[in-house]
Amino acid sequence: MRTVVFPGVLRPPSDCRFLVEVMRDRGLADDATVLDVFTGSGVLAVAAALAGARRVVAIDISRRAVLNARLNAALNGVRVHAMRGDLFAPVAGARFDLILANPPYIPSESENLPMSGLARAWDAGTDGRALLDRLCDEVAPRLSPGGAVLMVQSDLAGESATLDRLRASGLSAEVLDRRKGPLGPIVSSRTEMLERRGILAPDQRTEELLVIGGWRSR
Ligand SMILES: C[S@@+](CC[C@H](N)C(=O)[O-])C[C@H]1O[C@@H](n2cnc3c(N)ncnc32)[C@H](O)[C@@H]1O
Repeated sequence: MRTVVFPGVLRPPSDCRFLVEVMRDRGLADDATVLDVFTGSGVLAVAAALAGARRVVAIDISRRAVLNARLNAALNGVRVHAMRGDLFAPVAGARFDLILANPPYIPSESENLPMSGLARAWDAGTDGRALLDRLCDEVAPRLSPGGAVLMVQSDLAGESATLDRLRASGLSAEVLDRRKGPLGPIVSSRTEMLERRGILAPDQRTEELLVIGGWRSR
């Protein structure tokens, strides 16, 4: 895949590649209608299109990210309908076979989310769940019968909280894959705060990335 990343847009991190691997291994994009919410540079949307999706829509709150996603789709010769907006607002009433999500999930100093700038790609409130909770609560009505949401997050932002919330919204949910590794750069810069809050154990310097799937019944 050919990609460019505009200044002010997040360079696709390792969690993005992890999610793409799970999507491809399970053939989830084959002939599917796909929504990539929190699209950033659009790499998940483009990967879904290249993996055989029938139609791909991408959403980001950042105008620059939307333009970046459109350019990356064009560079790869695929069609992605990229739109600017908050979470599912631009697709109210629509349903998708597959929803991909790499949301901001890093615990931050305050509950106030950034209104602009690169930190909007990762800051997610004091427990890291501001966007995760909204995603879990609002995703089910956006799925076609039998459709799936595939999302990635760190275990530091709460594994059971995600599974419980997806199940409470009527989906069956499970962790599809997990990968342990060193703390990422943003988390590493916040270890003192995260230890103080009990999110990181003293001297803990690893986290687990989780790819979580949620399915709507047919
Ligand atoms: C972690 S980045 C993911 C980028 C891309 N999907 C990837 O994997 O490289 C999160 C993205 O979510 C966007 N974002 C943050 N809050 C949002 C919201 N309320 N609605 C839609 N997009 C949002 C940010 O602008 C950022 O591009």
